[in-house]
Amino acid sequence: MKKKILILLGLAVALVVILLVIVSCKDSTTAETSAAGSTVAETAASTTVAEVVAGDEGACADCHNDTTVIFSKEVQYANSVHGTGLTFERNDADCARCHTSEGFTARIAAGTFEIADDAPAIQNASPVNCRTCHNIHSTYTEADWALKTTDPVTLELTGDVYDKGNSNLCVNCHQPRPGTDIPIAGGADVEITSTRYGPHHGPQSSMLLGVGGYGEYKGSSVHYDATEAGCIDCHMTDSAFGKQAGGHTWKMAYVFHEAETEFLAGCLKCHEDIETFDRNGVETELAVMVEELRVLLVKQGLIDDKGAGIAGTFTAEQAGALWNYKTFTEDRSNGLHNPGFAKFLLQTGIDALKKK
Ligand code: HEC
Ligand code: HEC
Ligand code: HEC
Ligand code: HEC
Ligand code: HEC
Ligand code: HEC
Repeated sequence: MKKKILILLGLAVALVVILLVIVSCKDSTTAETSAAGSTVAETAASTTVAEVVAGDEGACADCHNDTTVIFSKEVQYANSVHGTGLTFERNDADCARCHTSEGFTARIAAGTFEIADDAPAIQNASPVNCRTCHNIHSTYTEADWALKTTDPVTLELTGDVYDKGNSNLCVNCHQPRPGTDIPIAGGADVEITSTRYGPHHGPQSSMLLGVGGYGEYKGSSVHYDATEAGCIDCHMTDSAFGKQAGGHTWKMAYVFHEAETEFLAGCLKCHEDIETFDRNGVETELAVMVEELRVLLVKQGLIDDKGAGIAGTFTAEQAGALWNYKTFTEDRSNGLHNPGFAKFLLQTGIDALKKK
């Protein structure tokens, strides 16, 4: 019985070897013919993928298989602001490095914050997508799920280092843009020329760290210190509600039965009985403070009724108050990224304007 099986196995192996020889002979003839008729580059590129497939038959199927490993993420991503946002039309060098996949990939490859100023605007730019964050189709193996970078990030505005695991990736983009000096108490008057004065749009990392504000903050930054991977602990916790929040939607709220619903899965890891973002009324308290600061800023002519900046020359204290107001509002977490620091920013701003 055992002998019979062995003989059969032997025959099967021989057959496979013969088939392989035939196939490889055929391959080399095709390669020769096509090399003669087409460009070398074309031949080289197709050989590379063929090599991957021949080298490890499972490679493509590590990802392209009958599981939903890719599809489930695509569905979530399609519902994210990375996927639906329109700011990837900001495709010139200055903006493309954070707003387009191509610009970001170029600067990470170069290891710099800038891409060359005179680089032409990126054509056919794409928004942040799978390839922006993962090494897709680099080795054509499962190893390509690796993130493009997880190196600690030195914040361009303040020089502080942000280092929280996989969320370091996010912070390459979600940091205030450099170029404006933060006012210093007792310093010279500040000439505000831009109506958009303040840290540009994504100061979430500096908020978490508790840096980049007007005034010297000495309190704690609990959600930086306590989390393992910063942003990811709250925004990507995988008990995502389908495609509504968490995971690759990065969303913290969604609509459920027509009601705005908070995504608390991440919070529950640390706050066992949390029922609302407004834990201990912290958001409510901060909302009252930011309104008080807004009214003072309007009264003293730093912003208009709609919140747009007004150009002019102001004392360092006034400019500092505006800086803190913008930092709080542009962070857009209603202070949750760093409740202690948020309170400090607003109180310092209010005090500075009340002294006037
Ligand atoms: C690390 C996982 C992974 C591996 C391994 C992998 N792919 Fe992909 N592939 C992806 C992802 C992710 C996408 C893009 C999906 C999206 O954009 O929504 C993709 C897209 C594609 C597409 C659609 C066109 C495109 O480029 O967007 C083709 C075709 C493809 N892959 C072929 C292959 C082949 C052939 C191999 C093996 C030689 C391979 N892939 C290996 C993850 C992988
Ligand atoms: C390549 C730069 C880049 C990286 C990396 C990046 N983001 Fe973003 N992110 C953006 C841009 C640009 C937008 C705004 C997109 C738009 O509105 O067109 C955005 C939007 C968002 C939003 C939605 C904001 C809103 O308007 O509701 C969240 C949440 C977010 N990012 C979280 C993250 C997290 C968490 C990570 C890391 C896992 C990350 N981002 C990585 C650039 C980036
Ligand atoms: C350091 C990375 C970075 C650079 C450089 C950058 N941005 Fe952004 N920008 C972001 C991020 C991240 C967001 C999303 C932040 C959020 O949703 O809170 C954003 C959001 C925006 C938005 C949407 C804001 C809103 O309130 O809806 C606009 C418009 C924008 N950026 C324009 C620009 C322009 C124009 C430039 C170039 C002059 C530029 N950005 C350069 C990171 C950057
Ligand atoms: C803004 C950056 C970003 C984008 C865009 C993005 N991812 Fe991810 N992805 C991450 C991060 C960060 C993690 C790790 C999350 C964690 O640590 O829990 C991850 C994890 C994953 C994983 C699990 C990987 C593993 O090692 O098991 C898969 C699969 C995946 N992403 C697929 C995709 C696909 C498919 C797309 C496009 C539809 C995509 N991602 C787009 C940031 C991103
Ligand atoms: C402790 C949990 C936590 C951490 C850590 C965290 N976030 Fe958030 N984030 C939130 C919550 C909660 C909100 C929404 C608050 C609200 O709507 O009242 C939010 C709001 C945001 C928003 C505004 C758009 C939106 O989806 O509401 C952006 C953009 C954002 N976070 C990005 C980031 C980035 C980037 C990081 C890492 C640098 C980060 N967050 C870290 C909890 C967190
Ligand atoms: C990795 C652990 C961790 C996660 C995740 C986390 N927190 Fe916290 N948070 C803390 C710690 C530690 C403190 C400080 C001690 C305390 O107040 O319990 C804190 C403090 C707070 C405070 C201010 C203190 C107060 O009086 O309540 C609020 C508000 C808060 N968290 C809300 C949230 C929300 C909302 C989420 C989810 C979006 C969240 N936290 C996610 C660990 C975490």
